[in-house]
Formats: sequence, C-alpha cells, structure tokens
Amino acid sequence: MAAPKPFLKWAGGKRQLIGEIDGIFEAIFSRFGPDFTYIEPFVGGGAILFHILSKFSPKSVIINDINVHLIDAYNAVKYNCKTLLEFLSQIERQYYQRKTEADKKKFYLQQRCLFNRLATNNCQSVIRKTALLLFLNKTCYNGLYRVNKKGEFNVPFGRYKNPKICDRENLNIVHKYLEKVTIISGDFAQTIHYAKKPTVFYLDPPYIPLSVTSCFTSYSSEEFNLDQQMRLKKFCDAIQASGNYFILSNSDSKYLYELYQDYNIKRVKARRSINSKGDKRGAIFELLITNF
Ligand SMILES: C[S@@+](CC[C@H](N)C(=O)[O-])C[C@H]1O[C@@H](n2cnc3c(N)ncnc32)[C@H](O)[C@@H]1O
Repeated sequence: MAAPKPFLKWAGGKRQLIGEIDGIFEAIFSRFGPDFTYIEPFVGGGAILFHILSKFSPKSVIINDINVHLIDAYNAVKYNCKTLLEFLSQIERQYYQRKTEADKKKFYLQQRCLFNRLATNNCQSVIRKTALLLFLNKTCYNGLYRVNKKGEFNVPFGRYKNPKICDRENLNIVHKYLEKVTIISGDFAQTIHYAKKPTVFYLDPPYIPLSVTSCFTSYSSEEFNLDQQMRLKKFCDAIQASGNYFILSNSDSKYLYELYQDYNIKRVKARRSINSKGDKRGAIFELLITNF
C-alpha cells in the first residue's frame, strides 16, 4: 500500500521539516521500537502524523485539534469513507460540468454558503459537510482555512487549472491508516491524559507571529495568543515531569529562546508555503524544541 498523504492542505503544513523530525524519531525508534504512544495535540493537516504512521507504526496514536470541522473530517474518513467518497465525487462532477471560470466561481460560492449553513446534527450531515470542506479546500485561495468573527469560512475562490477534488486512492489509504488512531477534539491540554510511558508528543501550535501581517492564518475563531503560548510551555513542563518526551515546532521568535531556556533548541531552515506575498516565499528559520 502506498504511503498516506494529508487529505487537506493546512496552513503551517510541516512537510518541509519532515527530515529533521524524522531524525528525532529514528532515535526514539532505535530505543523503543514501535512500542511507544504518539500524540499530536495540534494535528492540522497531519503531514507529520501520516509520515510517523507509515514509517514507524507506533503502538498507539492519538490526534487532537480544536477545529471541530477538521476533526469531523478525520472521523468521516475513518468511519464513513465510502459515503464521503460518493458525496465528494458528486461535487467534483458538478464542478467540472461548469465550463467557464465564472461559473466555477459561482458554484464555489454556493458550496461555501452551504458549508456555512449546514447544521451537523446527524451523521449524514457531518459527512456532507466534510465533503464540502474537502471541495472548498481544493478550490479555495491557497488552500487556506480562515473564518470570520461569526465563525463562517470566508476564503475566496482560488484559480487552479484542474484541481483534484476527489483523491479516491489517497482517501482509501488514509482510511486504512486511521483505523488504529484515536481522534479527539478540543483544547491541547486534554491530551496529557492519554500519555502512557513512553509517549512522544509532537506539538505544532499556531506560531508566534514574526510580523503583524502574518496573523492572517487564523485556523479557527479561537485565538492562540501569548497567554496560550505560556500555557503550552507549562504543558511541556508537565510532559517532562511525567517522564515522557516532546518535540515542539514554532517560529524563530526571540521570546521562545527565553521561555524554553531549560530545553534543547535547534534552529532549522524551513520554507513556508503559505504567504500572501509571492516574493516572501523564500527560506525562513523555525525552532525545534525537545526535552531529550
Ligand atoms: C500549525 S497548525 C498545525 C499544522 C499541522 N501540524 C500540519 O502539518 O498541517 C495548528 C493547529 O492548531 C489548532 N489549534 C489552535 N488552537 C488550539 C488549541 N487551543 N488546542 C488544540 N488545537 C489548537 C488549529 O486548529 C490548527 O489546526
């Protein structure tokens, strides 16, 4: 079976850091083999999750995110993949029946409106909403997930030539891999209750912005401000105190060198793929902080 890939584009996707993070997991694996628990409290698109699942196959895996629609999507792929594929291929067909760019855009805006109105009070509507999310994610501007103050998804139409809306093969592979994954939704702090020695946490929170304009990557209506970053540091201390391990990625912010002075901090070269200005797409640095 081919390796699973993220089924949603997500701001902050960590594909570019896989090499670095992989090295850390090699060390974990050489010590414990697959007998460890892997917890990802800010799973997002799951670039690292899918890599870890296919390469190291940990004994137990728990993922979490505060974005309810995202977690509904993971659950739909895990438990109702067949129905999801039916809904999604239907939307794909309808999209490609529109021949002009203007008609495609009109269809996109209708589906976006439907997504924002659809109540998820039963299993079918949750799957339908996930199909809409996958469609919007593949056709919206830059694959962003952004909501307004009312919590409505408001990303404009993107201009892709022939987006692959229904990637049947990958969704079926992801479905298989998610069989052994426990999926929970809510604040990151709740995941500590799932840790059994040895557990490795990979933490990829919304980054501390390096400039005011980069705040635009709002993942959900909840803000992740400096108080939350402090709370995350205390969470890392709790992991350390419990005899478990963490790997944290964050921006190359001066503030973090002070906050995490008791831990190992490595500055690594990364490339950010979502940026509003094309000329700023070049290499930038990020931090990888570990307690081992
Ligand atoms: C940088 S993204 C993760 C990117 C992901 N690792 C990837 O590869 O695509 C941060 C995630 O944290 C989630 N988040 C924000 N605040 C949170 C909180 N308090 N608890 C848990 N998740 C939260 C967001 O919904 C978002 O999906």
